[in-house]
Amino acid sequence: MNNISRRRFFRGGLGLGAAAFLFGNAKASVPAAGGSIPVIVTDHTNETGKNAVREGYEILAKGGLAVDAVEKGTNIIEVDPDDTSVGYGGLPNADGIVQLDASIMDGKTYNAGSVGCLEGIKTPASIARLVMEKTDHVMLVGAGALRFAKSYGYKEEDLMTEKSRRFYLRWRENLNKDDDWGPPDHLRKTNEEVAGLYDGLEHYTGTTNVLAVDSNGDIAGITSTSGLAWKIPGRVGDSPIIGAGLYVDNEVGAAGATGRGEDVIKSCASYFIVMQMRAGRSPQQACEDALQMILDKYKKVNADFVPGEKFIALNKKGEYGCSSMPGPRKTQMAVMSEKGLMVHEGTSIGG
Ligand code: GLY
Repeated sequence: MNNISRRRFFRGGLGLGAAAFLFGNAKASVPAAGGSIPVIVTDHTNETGKNAVREGYEILAKGGLAVDAVEKGTNIIEVDPDDTSVGYGGLPNADGIVQLDASIMDGKTYNAGSVGCLEGIKTPASIARLVMEKTDHVMLVGAGALRFAKSYGYKEEDLMTEKSRRFYLRWRENLNKDDDWGPPDHLRKTNEEVAGLYDGLEHYTGTTNVLAVDSNGDIAGITSTSGLAWKIPGRVGDSPIIGAGLYVDNEVGAAGATGRGEDVIKSCASYFIVMQMRAGRSPQQACEDALQMILDKYKKVNADFVPGEKFIALNKKGEYGCSSMPGPRKTQMAVMSEKGLMVHEGTSIGG
């Protein structure tokens, strides 16, 4: 019987781990792209991601605030029922409960807010914004975060879709051949029959980042996620941790992370990227620097281990870049500026 563990799913889903070397093609850094403001970017390059930057840009084009644009854009991605890595329809934890993490940072006010393990609310980024603007705290988690959201009129809803429930039930049935989930032994399917267990999952690189610079040069960012699929209940990833999954410095730029949150937390990766930009590196180079820094750390401990991160960054001039560990998919980001909508191709590092 196929025994698909939480870790194998996550790494396999990300197209990372040992298999990454099959696809890995480390490229030299590409020149800084962009350079105009206002601008809004996201790691999501599917139709929903493109809609997110289009709608966010509408706010920016009218002279609106970066913080409003990133919230609008992120909400579009969060409510997409087909996205299995963010908000509504996100894959649940090991108990079958969707627990969401999100953070927001507003460079103009040097303010930040976040939520961790939030259940029942489709748009955690908006709750993070409420934490940022309506409290003196930065992070609310769990039941307290849900009570807080409800106090502002947010409705508690079932965040599972038919699709995410189907994936969860398949995972539970195939977790352990010795438990009692799934059909009786004599009716169980063979390994071959369950080989395509997770076919139909569209967003292997979970999580979304939306970053913007408005026409005043003010910068804001959001990171939102349903986190690691089948995670241990209560696990918090990098996304709600300021400096890890997201960082904004209004004098410099913004950075956001997707991928294996545990690496991103340990490396304070988004803060590192912004500090690299402060030191003169382009957004593209700074993302590559962060990946190399993480790779160097692991190489000293386990030369074969390839972690699974993707970073995007944007600077105050409106230049942007992205980079990821090698995987089967291209490293891209969606960008909307006065030049229109485009998909920018970054680099992969470490193959
Ligand atoms: N980067 C998302 C997570 O690890 O939860």
